[in-house]
Order: sequence, then structure tokens, then C-alpha cells
Amino acid sequence: MELSQRMSRLGTETAFQVLAKAQALEAKGKDIIHLEIGEPDFDTPQHIRDAATKALNKGYTHYCNSQGIVPLRQEIAKVTEKTRGVKIDPDRVVVTPGAKPIMFYIMMALLEEGDEAIFPSPLYPIYESMINFSGAKAVPVRLHEELGFRFDLDELKARLTPRTKLIILNSPQNPTGSVLEEADIRGIAEIVCDRDIYVFSDEVYEHILYEGKHISIASLPGMLDKTILLNGFSKTYAMTGWRLGYAILPPKLIEPVVRLITNSVSCTAPFLQHAGIEALTGPQESVPIMVAEFKKRRDLIVDGLNQIPGISCVRPKGAFYVFPNVKKVGIDCRQFADYLLYEAGVAILPGTHFGEYGEGYIRLSYANSQENIKKALDRIREAVAKLNKK
Ligand SMILES: Cc1ncc(COP(=O)(O)O)c(C=O)c1O
Repeated sequence: MELSQRMSRLGTETAFQVLAKAQALEAKGKDIIHLEIGEPDFDTPQHIRDAATKALNKGYTHYCNSQGIVPLRQEIAKVTEKTRGVKIDPDRVVVTPGAKPIMFYIMMALLEEGDEAIFPSPLYPIYESMINFSGAKAVPVRLHEELGFRFDLDELKARLTPRTKLIILNSPQNPTGSVLEEADIRGIAEIVCDRDIYVFSDEVYEHILYEGKHISIASLPGMLDKTILLNGFSKTYAMTGWRLGYAILPPKLIEPVVRLITNSVSCTAPFLQHAGIEALTGPQESVPIMVAEFKKRRDLIVDGLNQIPGISCVRPKGAFYVFPNVKKVGIDCRQFADYLLYEAGVAILPGTHFGEYGEGYIRLSYANSQENIKKALDRIREAVAKLNKK
């Protein structure tokens, strides 16, 4: 039996494969420091866990509205209204098991052969995978290291065609940790305002920001109707395993996305949605505490990497990743990633896992303790020195 053609176009998120490789080594007794996986190493705050337990015990264990329970959608609308400064109708909110399914649903609902989607590259790999799966053309625009891993607006404009249907933004960004500037966002808004193009704005790292204020393109005049605003609970509240995310959608996309939800997962677990209400309305202290710790780790890892000959690392403004340039270590970034895993016991990802423009870079997640980061830096320093002696 042959698989469908479209399966050959579906990529994956290789962080999970590297994790499996690293765990296989651990099972054989090797000590591995995990800097490959992108999830906060903090526990979900207790009050959120308590809210889930309470909801379970109250019997919120049955199917519910595919779009998401109304009280959660109302809270999401309220919070987003406050942070974005625009009126949000709860009917625009759709709740999903994690933010990720929205990528799938939007590409399925919007794109087909002949369409084009522009995205900054390197980028979280599921975007390119889903664009390819839909049959549309993936159009990467290079993020420049010398611009702090931002794109050049003129280069992006040069990639527009009458077939462009979607522009994807992600700020703060995975894998580079870069943050878009107001001029970038205004530039994109100007591009789409008189064209039939949607912006897909992935803002799941909005709170993991070390300088300045998060700017959402949905805040700009007229942009709410043109923006698919993706957000979630995984990163802000250390809830990756819960699978709870949401999007604020332009009116035209609500019904098709809800139909896709009904067709795929029916709904998001209602007791989790009740915990989501607690996450948004309960105490928020855990967030700045986590971000302050991430900032310390960012400085530790950036300073440490910049002291290793052959490696140079931009200091990112957000998320919990660094994307150092390893073009001078003497081997390509894929070999270097394997070398660090097998020789040094440090699991990281080659930049190419995030698209072709990731060549020559590696991604390290600093969602790990300062102690482990220091140990990893020592190991990387030694491994690079050994390489130079070969
Ligand atoms: C940029 C970006 N968007 C979305 C997601 C997925 O988030 P969730 O766990 O809510 O599905 C990730 C996860 O790493 C991410 O890096």
C-alpha cells in the first residue's frame, strides 16, 4: 500500500528525534545535558494545577463546545483586549489542544497549490512543514544575524506576488530569540492593508521578553481583521504538557477552523480550559520570576559561548533560545550537533532543523538550570578545543 503523495511533503519537529537519541544514550549510562527541547523547566504554578483538579472533580470531563468554553473565551478576549488595546469579541477566540494545531488548521483552511506563504527563516519548523503539506509554495525570507536576526523589509517585499496569501511573523522568535521592532511590524501592516493577505502572528513567547514591550500587529488600526493571532499557555505558564492554546481569528476563518476542530479533535478537554481561566485570572507572580531567571541564563549562555573560539552569539531579546554562529568551528552544523551529543554529552539542534538559512548555526535552549548551562559550556569549550587539535 502506497502512502498518499502529500505525506512526502510533511516535515517534522526534529527536536523530538534528538531528544529520543539523547535518551537512548542516557539509557546506556551516558550523562547528557539537554539543551535541545523548548519548554520551560519550571513547574506549572500550584494554583493552576489546583484549578484543574477542582474542575475534574466537579465533573468537567465530557465533550464541550468545539470552539472552546465561553468563560475561557471571554477571559482570553479580556486579556488580549487589555494587552493589545483593541476590542475583541469572544466569538473570535478559538481554543485548541496547544497552540500548534492552529498552524495545521490555518494552512488547511487557507492554502492550496498555487498559493504562496512568506515566512522569516530560520523559523519553528512546523510552519514550513504545514505550508508544504497544504500544497502551497513556502517562501522563506532570510533573517540576518547582523540585524539581530530580523528580516530586511525590502527583501520581504521583493518576495510578494499576486499569489501571496499569508505572511507569518513570530516575535519573540523561535529559534533565534529575536524580537521584531515597531518599524518591522508597521511595515508589514502597510504591505497587507490594501492586499488580500492575512498575517499569521505567532506570539506564544510574548511574556518571555527581556527588553522593551511586546508589540502585536493586531493592535494596529484595521489589523485585527487581517491577523491570525496565535497564543497559548505552554510557555507563559509552563504548561507544555497540558496542551492548551488559542487563536484570535478574522471573522472569515472562525467557522472553517471550528469545523476543522470538530473533524479532528472534537474539542479541548474542558477541565484544562477551567485551569486556563485560573491561569489568566489568578496570581501572575510566577511569570516575572520565571522570566528573570531566564534572563540570567541568557546572559550566562551568551557570555560563555562568546568566549569559545570559533563561536559567536547574538544576545537575543526574547524567548529562551540562542542561535550562535558556528561557521568557524571547522565542521558543518549537523556534524557539530552530533559531535556535541556523542562526544560531549550536550544535546542541541543544528540550525538547519529550522530551514535552509539555519546553515552554519546551532540552537540551544536555555530552559535548563544555571548549573547545567555552566557544565554544558565547559563541555562545549573542551570539545571545540579537541576539534581544533585534530
Ligand atoms: C514559535 C512557537 N509557536 C508555537 C509553539 C507550540 O506551542 P504549544 O505547545 O502551545 O503547541 C512553539 C513550541 O515550541 C513555538 O516555538
